[in-house]
Amino acid sequence: MNDILVLYYSQSGQLEEIAKNIAKPLLNDADVSLTFSEIKLEKPFSFPWKKEAFFDAFPESFLQIPAKILAPPEEVLAKKYDLVILAYQVWYLSPSIPVNSFLKSEFAKQLLENTPVVTVIGCRNMWIMAQEKVKQLLRNVNAQLVGNIVLVDRAPNLISVITIVDWMFLGKKRNYLGIFPKPGVSEKDIQEASRFGETIGKSLQRNNFNDLQPELLKMDAVTVNEYLIKTDKKGNIVFNKWANLIISKKESRKSWLKVFNIYLLLAIWIISPIVYIFHLLTYPFTIAKRKKAIAYYKSI
Ligand SMILES: Cc1cc2nc3c(=O)[nH]c(=O)nc-3n(C[C@H](O)[C@H](O)[C@H](O)COP(=O)(O)O)c2cc1C
Repeated sequence: MNDILVLYYSQSGQLEEIAKNIAKPLLNDADVSLTFSEIKLEKPFSFPWKKEAFFDAFPESFLQIPAKILAPPEEVLAKKYDLVILAYQVWYLSPSIPVNSFLKSEFAKQLLENTPVVTVIGCRNMWIMAQEKVKQLLRNVNAQLVGNIVLVDRAPNLISVITIVDWMFLGKKRNYLGIFPKPGVSEKDIQEASRFGETIGKSLQRNNFNDLQPELLKMDAVTVNEYLIKTDKKGNIVFNKWANLIISKKESRKSWLKVFNIYLLLAIWIISPIVYIFHLLTYPFTIAKRKKAIAYYKSI
């Protein structure tokens, strides 16, 4: 019998649905016992978000400052798992506060040490550096990353910025103004995520995860966009400065978060289109470098 733990955090339910769909084919496997466990904070973040709270989450998300989490139920902690599927979202180019907090907790050590882990990301589209941070957190607890699946919003970058804001502040997915596509991971991609479960199940049966990521990649489990790699890396450099500045301003934190809000709007609507044009101009001269970077971020 193989014991699988599916760990997830989700505000809107999107990641929960993705995680459950991936696990679906494993439910029919008589040799598999599935346990689902939601990561819970002592003080949960409200959803839908209020504007102030949304920006207030920035410094602690980016600096990966953990919050207190609730202990997973006794029956979840009681077992040693053959595989853990960890479904997380990205907040400000980093693993979300609940998931970062879990990975830094004693429970992560207990549940993940010497255990194969498949990460599942459901985000807008900027996950590259967040996954590098998660890789490090998994190494810290001696977990063994064996696979990664990424589901993103397929709309063009700036369109998904508009629609995600509407979703996060309204609390439900809709066609904003009647003209925009629905935000987040598409219903089709969410439903079809169950195909990954079959592949994970095969690796589990063989008790060998060496081929899992190459097999997942054949099924388009990860798409890497080179422009977004650059943007993510540059974003991390700038966010680092902002987060450290804001966290040092105890009294005037609220005012600085407002300045950061304005910066973010400028970065998205003015700086990023300029960087994109530059990216297109240099595109033909960077083929080799691009291929190498894409192969690296698709792998584990
Ligand atoms: C505070 C906050 C910051 C976010 N930052 C990012 C980000 O940097 N990159 C990204 O691709 N998505 C980002 N997202 C979108 C989330 O990754 C995720 O897709 C969305 O919150 C839905 O996840 P859920 O399953 O928890 O509802 C952010 C969401 C929130 C609430």
